[in-house]
Amino acid sequence: MRGKFITVEGIEGVGKSTNIDVMRTAIEARGLRVLTSREPGGTPMAEQIRALLLEHGDEPVPDIAELLLIFAARSLHVNNVLRPALEQGTWVICDRFTDTSRAYQGAGRGFPLAEIDRLAGWVHPDLQPDLTVLLDAPVETGMQRAGKRSQPDRIETAKGGFFTRARECYLQLAAQEPDRFAVIDASRDIDAVRASVRSEVERLLDKNKG
Ligand code: TMP
Repeated sequence: MRGKFITVEGIEGVGKSTNIDVMRTAIEARGLRVLTSREPGGTPMAEQIRALLLEHGDEPVPDIAELLLIFAARSLHVNNVLRPALEQGTWVICDRFTDTSRAYQGAGRGFPLAEIDRLAGWVHPDLQPDLTVLLDAPVETGMQRAGKRSQPDRIETAKGGFFTRARECYLQLAAQEPDRFAVIDASRDIDAVRASVRSEVERLLDKNKG
């Protein structure tokens, strides 16, 4: 049986990594194979594109170049890693996918969502997440947590309400597709968040038992 495709989304500092570990453990406990990956990245060439996208270089990066590089990396990842794994029955958990492009390049940078959907239809017409876990927290909470952890990458240095627009876009996407999205309040303490994440994954596992 084909594996399930789970994506994890949210603005910076909402705790994606720790919750991906929770999901992996829950899926492995059922004796299933799991692959965790990330975007942009997940293949050698896509990781090179990631490095180009996130570094603070001297050359200005037009927003359209950013968008197309992200989808170029996504095409490599979908074709060379994600689709083959899913076809072999492996469950895949991906740290960010096309909803980040909608929230960041769409709402954040200002590209119409219809254009992003067009690229998605081109690059992965037959691949949509079975479950998208949206870790939601106020922008200030995320920024505080992210700030303690590391230096912001080039995209994270965006200003002027970028993350507020991105968060609102995520919540709108979730409202439009309630069957695909699980919205989790990530501003609560870490154990409460982990428990909610675990129960969403358990629900998908139960639905696909046998
Ligand atoms: P990460 O640090 O959470 O792994 O994300 C990498 C950076 O890439 C982060 O700044 C968000 C950005 N990004 C986009 O802007 N659009 C996308 O479609 C993806 C997948 C990531």
